[in-house]
Amino acid sequence: MRRFPAQFQEKCVTVFRSELRKNKSLERFRVSVKNGNAPGIALILLLAVLVAGCERPQFSEAEKRTIASLALNALPPLKPDTTNRYADDPGAAALGATLFFDFTLSRNGTVACSTCHQIGQQFQDGLPQGVGVARTNRRTQPLAGVAYSPWLFWDGRRDSLWAQALVPLENPLEQAGNRTAYARYVKARFGERYERIFGPLPDFSNVPANAGPLGSATEQSAWNGMSGAQHDDINRVFANIGKALAAFQRSINPKEARFDRFAAVLAAGGEPQDDAVFSPEEIQGLKLFIGKASCSTCHNGPLFTDHAFHNTGVPPVADLPPDRGRVDAVAQVDADPFNCLGAYRDGGPEACGELKFMVRDKPELIRAYKTPSLRAVAGRPPYMHAGQFGSLEEVVAHYAKAPSSVEGVSEVHPLRLSERERAALVAFLKTLSP
Ligand code: HEC
Ligand code: HEC
Repeated sequence: MRRFPAQFQEKCVTVFRSELRKNKSLERFRVSVKNGNAPGIALILLLAVLVAGCERPQFSEAEKRTIASLALNALPPLKPDTTNRYADDPGAAALGATLFFDFTLSRNGTVACSTCHQIGQQFQDGLPQGVGVARTNRRTQPLAGVAYSPWLFWDGRRDSLWAQALVPLENPLEQAGNRTAYARYVKARFGERYERIFGPLPDFSNVPANAGPLGSATEQSAWNGMSGAQHDDINRVFANIGKALAAFQRSINPKEARFDRFAAVLAAGGEPQDDAVFSPEEIQGLKLFIGKASCSTCHNGPLFTDHAFHNTGVPPVADLPPDRGRVDAVAQVDADPFNCLGAYRDGGPEACGELKFMVRDKPELIRAYKTPSLRAVAGRPPYMHAGQFGSLEEVVAHYAKAPSSVEGVSEVHPLRLSERERAALVAFLKTLSP
């Protein structure tokens, strides 16, 4: 005898019950029998509903493959970063953790990485724009799985996790410090730990206390008065601060979500239990996400991102400076002395393919931003690169409408989504949280 696979049995019963409720077939059947009439149409309807419900599998084979590709267990192990010899050095990661939470690494002693990247808030701050020494122009990005990203920042203006870490340290809106002060502080406070990892520290006795190429006018002129050898000494210590911070951030991993438990059971052909059971609404949302709404053309893979840049027509924020996204980041990453092709990379230049071959001058780069991961997204409003939307409902409404971009061309097209479909997409996005 033919047996229904286990996962269909439950579905069979659910569909059967809900269809019965909708069609009132059973009621009609009962009434017609009671009245002595031939059950005819009511009986046929009842059987048709039963067969349809049981024969229709919940997901096609193609859908199942896509769902499996989104599950956390499809995330490959992190590749070594040959440009940072200390990337997987536990001592470097421990020093990086100390530095991440150290408020002294700022102009006024009040801002650390952890001011904006808060450990209890998915390493972000829940604000539309991050606030350090002053308010920045973009939203603080969460850090789970960040080490998988070839480009850093919303516009990808840095090409490694260690080069990225150097930017907030000097940015006047964030930590606002200067390069020689940082190198001297690390030597004075963490000299022994530093030398055990990175080797001997240079002599800084003739180096100005406050100097840097990106600092105030006085700091810049102090920097310009230093010798090339002194610049190199300071830059090397500065780069190593970034390498320690990167080593620490490589350990910030995404957590298993309800979706992952559901996907694992689906892949194994088993029956979901407890919180891994998806409601019909969540299933509808998932099907839309990977189907009609094409969300997974960009939000794909186990981190729900293609790590690429897209213009999705997100509107600018009125009181912020003009922001053209990726198109203006290309020259910045090319000019960065700490980029992969610069003097402070470890290992060989074969690691620099991304930088060498990056797309430099396509109109598609205008107002293009890095596709964010959607893992645990429900727990961290507001959304988008400058916190433009306050809720997932607003995000989905944006995609449904797909307004044209103020500059450049949006890649997303209006979607015909009913109220129920929008709600289903939101319900599905919520399953990406623990
Ligand atoms: C004032 C708040 C603030 C501070 C302090 C801060 N960040 Fe950030 N961080 C941000 C904002 C805002 C962005 C996005 C900026 C952008 O795209 O221009 C960001 C982006 C990042 C990214 C990129 C993530 C990605 O997916 O591309 C990393 C990594 C990061 N920060 C790490 C750090 C580290 C390490 C420190 C300390 C050295 C630090 N941040 C200090 C607010 C802050
Ligand atoms: C063309 C690529 C693309 C498609 C298709 C796409 N997204 Fe996005 N998504 C992005 C980019 C890029 C951003 C960031 C845009 C910005 O900040 O300006 C984003 C942002 C988001 C955010 C905000 C996340 C955060 O942390 O700020 C959510 C939620 C989201 N998308 C969900 C969806 C859903 C649901 C769909 C399908 C209806 C979808 N996306 C389709 C590229 C895409």
